[in-house]
Amino acid sequence: MKFEQFELERNQSLFENEVDFNLSESGVHPLKLSEILTEEEQKEILNTELFYGYTNGTPELRQRVAELYGKQFSKQNVLITSGSAEANFLSVMTQLDSGDEIIYMVPNYLQIFHLARSFGIKVNILPIRQELGWQWDPDELEDMINVKTKMIAICNPNNPTGSVMSSEIMDKVITLAEDRNCWLLSDEVYRGAELDGLECRSFAGATEKTIVNAGLSKAYSLPGLRMGWSVGSESYIEKAWSFHDFTVINVAYLSDWVASRILEHSRRKAILDRTKNHLNHNLNMLLKWGEDFPELTFSRPDAAAITFAKLNLPIGCEDFIFHLRDHYSVLLTAGKWHGLEGYIRFGYGTPTDYVRDGLERVTQYLKKFSE
Ligand SMILES: Cc1ncc(COP(=O)(O)O)c(C=O)c1O
Repeated sequence: MKFEQFELERNQSLFENEVDFNLSESGVHPLKLSEILTEEEQKEILNTELFYGYTNGTPELRQRVAELYGKQFSKQNVLITSGSAEANFLSVMTQLDSGDEIIYMVPNYLQIFHLARSFGIKVNILPIRQELGWQWDPDELEDMINVKTKMIAICNPNNPTGSVMSSEIMDKVITLAEDRNCWLLSDEVYRGAELDGLECRSFAGATEKTIVNAGLSKAYSLPGLRMGWSVGSESYIEKAWSFHDFTVINVAYLSDWVASRILEHSRRKAILDRTKNHLNHNLNMLLKWGEDFPELTFSRPDAAAITFAKLNLPIGCEDFIFHLRDHYSVLLTAGKWHGLEGYIRFGYGTPTDYVRDGLERVTQYLKKFSE
């Protein structure tokens, strides 16, 4: 098997710790344990024995995750994974075979795109369109589904545009998936980072063959926990769990322990409120900054710590990114790595001063084009 390069992750992992300003980060600046645990809990964690735990996640954590999605879910519908990345990997591994086809939302994070193609699966790209407010046209979806279509893969809220699928379009997607007996895979890792503070509708439970993958890396500001999950039917969860035995066995027990506390109602709310306030503040600053530059057209995202700007310059987005990285020590991500040339993704979830100083360097670069 020949794996495709995961361009986005590779470009980030090679340079994100080397540049002065990493504005390629797509989540909210990480929290410290001392900011989220009480002193008593901090003592408790230091005295916790580091045993394996439960390979599918502790019952306590699985129950807390299930409760996020409504009363029809129980811990039997949840598998704890090493980030939502592992959850996505398991969904592709367990449900798709070489020769199958999937319909894939673009622009996107492209993990599922590269992975599926590496497994010999045909990936049919269905764009969300800027002129539609970064939404799908459901008629295009209907036309694209064929007898080989096994899965419709969605990222909602979307990375990189930050758009949230309208409820009306969700209904149409669900009807089509049900009628054509396709899996619905919804990557919802940005859910909870809505700028209006209202958590968007989840696809969880939409059909018997719906899988929702999410985790604590983005809206919850805890990427270092490597905490993710899958929510689906009991039979899907059983199957994903049996593959998970071959990937990581289980998530670090300490991460499971912390995550169970994070998802307590009041603590979860406090973290998501912090996320909302921080993102609104930084986004306003970013969009105000952007008004001075006709070289970039920004649109306001609905959610997530990222926005996708159109590049109005006669230069490829990758060249733009590389030059900025190598001469101004600022890292952004190229639209090409999200499946759409001509755009640049800006991450604005880091501390305000850091974003401001990073943008100052981008200003210096952009001025070169008008000189
Ligand atoms: C849409 C999407 N899904 C999944 C992931 C993987 O995140 P994690 O494994 O940290 O939960 C990312 C990371 O950027 C992402 O943007």
